[in-house]
Amino acid sequence: MYNEDILIIQEAIMAKSTHFYELFQPKHYNVYLDINRATKQIAGTSTITGDAKATNIAIHQKYMTISAVKADGQAVPFTFDDQTEGIHIDLGKTGDTTLTIDFTAPLTDSMMGIYPSYYEINGEKKQIIGTQFETTAARQAFPCVDEPEAKATFDLAIKFDEHEGETIISNMPEVKTENGVHYFDTTVRMSSYLIAFAFGEMQSKLTTTKSGVQVGVFATKAHQAKELDFALDIAKRSIEFYEDFYQTPYPLPHSWQMALPDFSAGAMENWGLVTYREAYLLIDPDNTAFDLKLRVATVVAHELAHQWFGDLVTMKWWDDLWLNESFANMMEYVAIDAIEPTWGAWDAFQSGDVPMALQRDATDGVQSVHVQVEDPAEIDALFDSAIVYAKGARMLVMVRALIGDDALRAGLKAYFTAHKYGNAKGADLWSALGDASGLDVGAIMNSWLEQPGYPVVTAKVVDGKLTIAQQQFFVGEGQDAGRQWQIPLNSNYDAVPTLLKDQSLDLGDYQALRQASGEPFRLNVGNNSHFIVQYDDTLLQDILANVNTLDEISQLQLLQDLRLLAEGRRIFYAAVVPLLKQFADSKYTVVTSALYTVAGNLRKFVTPDSADEKQIKAYYDQLSAKQVARLGWTPRATDDIDDELSRPTVLSAALFAHNADAVAAAHEQFTTHQDNLAGLPAATRPLILANEVKNFGSAALFDTLLAAYRQSTDASYKADLSAALTSTTDAALIAKLIVAFEDADTVKPQDLRAWFRGVLANSKGEQAAWDWIRNDWQWLEDTVGGDMEFTTYITVISRVFRTADRLAEFKAFFEPKINTPGLTREITMDIKVIETRVNLIKDEQAAVNAAIAESVK
Ligand code: BES
Ligand code: ZN
Repeated sequence: MYNEDILIIQEAIMAKSTHFYELFQPKHYNVYLDINRATKQIAGTSTITGDAKATNIAIHQKYMTISAVKADGQAVPFTFDDQTEGIHIDLGKTGDTTLTIDFTAPLTDSMMGIYPSYYEINGEKKQIIGTQFETTAARQAFPCVDEPEAKATFDLAIKFDEHEGETIISNMPEVKTENGVHYFDTTVRMSSYLIAFAFGEMQSKLTTTKSGVQVGVFATKAHQAKELDFALDIAKRSIEFYEDFYQTPYPLPHSWQMALPDFSAGAMENWGLVTYREAYLLIDPDNTAFDLKLRVATVVAHELAHQWFGDLVTMKWWDDLWLNESFANMMEYVAIDAIEPTWGAWDAFQSGDVPMALQRDATDGVQSVHVQVEDPAEIDALFDSAIVYAKGARMLVMVRALIGDDALRAGLKAYFTAHKYGNAKGADLWSALGDASGLDVGAIMNSWLEQPGYPVVTAKVVDGKLTIAQQQFFVGEGQDAGRQWQIPLNSNYDAVPTLLKDQSLDLGDYQALRQASGEPFRLNVGNNSHFIVQYDDTLLQDILANVNTLDEISQLQLLQDLRLLAEGRRIFYAAVVPLLKQFADSKYTVVTSALYTVAGNLRKFVTPDSADEKQIKAYYDQLSAKQVARLGWTPRATDDIDDELSRPTVLSAALFAHNADAVAAAHEQFTTHQDNLAGLPAATRPLILANEVKNFGSAALFDTLLAAYRQSTDASYKADLSAALTSTTDAALIAKLIVAFEDADTVKPQDLRAWFRGVLANSKGEQAAWDWIRNDWQWLEDTVGGDMEFTTYITVISRVFRTADRLAEFKAFFEPKINTPGLTREITMDIKVIETRVNLIKDEQAAVNAAIAESVK
């Protein structure tokens, strides 16, 4: 009888997507886990005290065997299955209830739930156990109401097949060990996806913040102790910064940062125990490129921003995921810019996140920042870094520019006070910021959050009048749905209002305005609003004639916007080609990097090994010559950060150009460091290694580098080696690489995408990589299918393909998979992305190549 009841309830749950929290509201958990690495089994008991809102309730579980369920000490009927990921319990009553659930579960190698990471010390294979619960994997570790709103306190007790010299850490400090069981202090009220622990042999370094929070960095002993220092310092100072900025204390006794050798995401903000990929935490202080240092600093600052935004106050449901991620993505730059003002953190935002958001958000079919979602597979697919992270952060940067830091801080303080240890929705943030600033922040922001895409603002002089108008910008075909935005215009002309709320606006007599201001007319000064500008010829020529008076962000913006306008077929790519020269000798790394981003986009018009390729190489040579002479191969004592960051960019351009001096110089560097390749200067190391493989390569060199890859524990050196190895032009060696893809002792699944991309983007490897992914798709799905990165394998392909034949093959392979949960949007968008590129190349290839040939004359 009850089985049928349960079936009916299950169907109701599926149909209405009832959240389990509506049926049972947990208050406190006692979780006991016994983890056996040898048998790869977990056995445990989850004791949950809470309030039953219905007589038939459901508790999450996945991949478990449930042996007994008791309610207040009495056995109760239950069923469980992996389809609803639930245990469906017939309580026969409502109200305060203590559930006791006995279970067993496998310890799987999926980098989700409780999982082992593998590493080696001196040839000895070891493992360390860690956890990854976001978004819906806490339910693989212990039965729980695994929804962000179901906040409760947790007592964790963990036993494992422990040996001498092992350590266990968790969200809270350990309070006692009894009979081999480690007991941790009761947590604060928190969501299940933020629970974490790790055990194994570890090393650590500790320090304390001004306010007394213990900060620590943990890693396996395969690393040198000095690799922990950089992150420790950044973590400490980030916490101190946030305590001040948010005016809200860090509420736990400690903040541990743990590097795990196998990790599916980049890092994870578990409260009090943040976990990281080794690449994003450990830094060799004696040889690390500056951009990587900055990256590690911003990753640490991102996860620590979440300790408040995400952990202390959590989104009510996953549709407001952006509230977590967009905010942390902005704060990583706010924090690092505050604690290290000379590092140019915002430059990285402007040349990384901003173009990423503008590119992806211009494709019709893109998601909005705020998206309705229920299915767990769809929740993971929400984590689109270009939208939820980059565009979302840009939305918040826009708000910050609009209301200022004082109102932002006051608003945040009120928000934390109102919602701490609880949950919030986007509207709660807007109302807090609105109250603090006196602006209707919600009305402005909803136009950006709820709508996909963004506007191009056209600025024109018509009949002597300066007019501006907004329209949705598309790269590729787009349905004009008549969307409008409330656009913070940020012009350098006083006559321009703060916001463009209407479709168009007449600003009055252009000559009078131009004369009064004495400067070319500009919009979006500072590039903080999420739109691009198309100036008419009069206005653009005025700007270009005064380009040297523009600051570096404005120059980057000009190049970025022109490139997008060309991609969107609003101007001709050929018209952009000659403009590049004007920016070639900039001292600023943001300008240099924007320039080579545009130049890199010209490469798609050029067929490999053609006469056109010779021309574009000559153009690269011309563009980079002065900078190469200025910066050279060896870091100088007088280098500033711009020099340090520009050097690899211009040298890479010279090497692409096959400049004979550059090729010889890189070869010489290689020869000098032959006995210690890891000791090559980290900034140019990837170029030197790749140059050697491409121009002086042999099977012996290949084997040496592959062996070095297998041995090294330095993630940045390994990334350089992988980039070098995948650039080989030798078919036999490419075949060897493809074999290594599925050998986890060589390429860890977490690093596979970079290898795949390397071979695919190599014109001599494209076919082999494409054949591999099609043939072994099932293996890939089995290996990294549960992973947030999975869909990005498809994205990677869509960035490389440029011919009609490849488009047809892509469709033939992926269209049948279009209904796979979590893949639908990616496949649809990527077909469009490739289609758009194929059409653009067909239409403009001849003109672009002619313009390049003309420019090198
Ligand atoms: N909360 C995320 C990690 C995450 C994402 C877990 C998706 C599960 C599913 C974390 O805060 C994060 O944003 N990590 C980034 C790195 C970050 C510094 C940009 C990541 O993993 O890419
Ligand atoms: Zn995050």
